[in-house]
Amino acid sequence: MTYAASAHSIADLERLAAEVLPADVRDFVAGGSGGESTLRANRAALDRILIEPRVLRDVSGCTTATTLLGRPSRLPVATAPVAYQRVLHPDGELATARAAAAAGVPFTASTLSSVAIEELTAAGGDVWFQLYWLRDTARTLDLVRRAEDAGCTAIMLTVDVPWMARRLHDLRNGFTLPPHVRAAHLDTGRAAHTHRPDVSAVAAHTAQAFSAALTWDTVALLRRSTRLPVLLKGILAAADARRATEFGIDAIVVSNHGGRQLDGALPSIDALAEIAPAVGGACEVLFDSGVRTGTDVLRALALGASGVLVGRPVLWGLAAAGEAGVSRALELIGAELRDALGLSGCATVAAAASLRTTGLSPARPPAGARPLRTAP
Ligand SMILES: Cc1cc2nc3c(=O)[nH]c(=O)nc-3n(C[C@H](O)[C@H](O)[C@H](O)COP(=O)(O)O)c2cc1C
Repeated sequence: MTYAASAHSIADLERLAAEVLPADVRDFVAGGSGGESTLRANRAALDRILIEPRVLRDVSGCTTATTLLGRPSRLPVATAPVAYQRVLHPDGELATARAAAAAGVPFTASTLSSVAIEELTAAGGDVWFQLYWLRDTARTLDLVRRAEDAGCTAIMLTVDVPWMARRLHDLRNGFTLPPHVRAAHLDTGRAAHTHRPDVSAVAAHTAQAFSAALTWDTVALLRRSTRLPVLLKGILAAADARRATEFGIDAIVVSNHGGRQLDGALPSIDALAEIAPAVGGACEVLFDSGVRTGTDVLRALALGASGVLVGRPVLWGLAAAGEAGVSRALELIGAELRDALGLSGCATVAAAASLRTTGLSPARPPAGARPLRTAP
């Protein structure tokens, strides 16, 4: 049995990763912003959602296969954009892209990827390019061109990072990138590599590089600038989701950045319950922040998502065992999802949309969602 195969859950992979990662890198990955209330709330809210399983529905042909952005995917899952993956393993994003291609799911490359996009599309799977809007618009649009030329199949604009939030672990650790880990598409200059006590060098670099002036005009400009499907990542308000559909956006990602941006933001799963019915099929709705199991994927499907992004689970796999570790993470989530689908009476991913749930936050009634009512 290989090292990665000894993990039977994402929690097992996280423990393996903790054995090999330096404390500051582990903190960079695991941590959230501020007092981490949103990081905790994501998990608590997912755990509250319980499913009403159906029976006698012939699940002998149960399949996790689906489509994402109109293209086939073996799971309703894509890897989330994650910066600087070479801090976790020497192969970095290349290992993740290869494992995603082998698993038949899309890989998302971050603007802050530490491996160049051309090497990642050469891995052969569907590659989405995540865009951080830079202060220099011409350079931003050059990145879009470069992603298109490299063969990416979608552009995902992240809209919840005007700047990086205060992440206290990184501040206390003075988190700094080692010299060999560089943003392959940007000049990280000295900022990301200069250690200063009580400063996150990664946050210092992004403050220099990213624009905080994004508006819906930026979205319109991006929409005009590419023929590829466009996703907006980092939406939590139904009003913003509806607005996105007016701009010809192909998909939104309901996300609070894994609890790494606004501390105190609501859990993404509660937002999803309101947003999916509000969008009403006008664009695809994806979900992230806190997905750790196949049951979490089922929860998101039941609340109207067509798929999820996974961030930290993939990173724990990468740190523990490189490409084999990422493969194991995706294999575990896939096996758990097949279990969860079949055991809830769903032979297909689409069937999960009609499952009923309990446990949505009562403070936020799920307009149009179908909570299971319990007798008074
Ligand atoms: C270490 C790390 C780096 C990240 N880098 C990016 C990034 O470059 N761009 C982006 O849009 N999101 C980034 N994210 C957020 C993820 O794309 C995703 O929204 C989040 O991790 C989902 O939550 P999960 O980790 O609980 O699955 C990052 C997350 C982590 C943990």
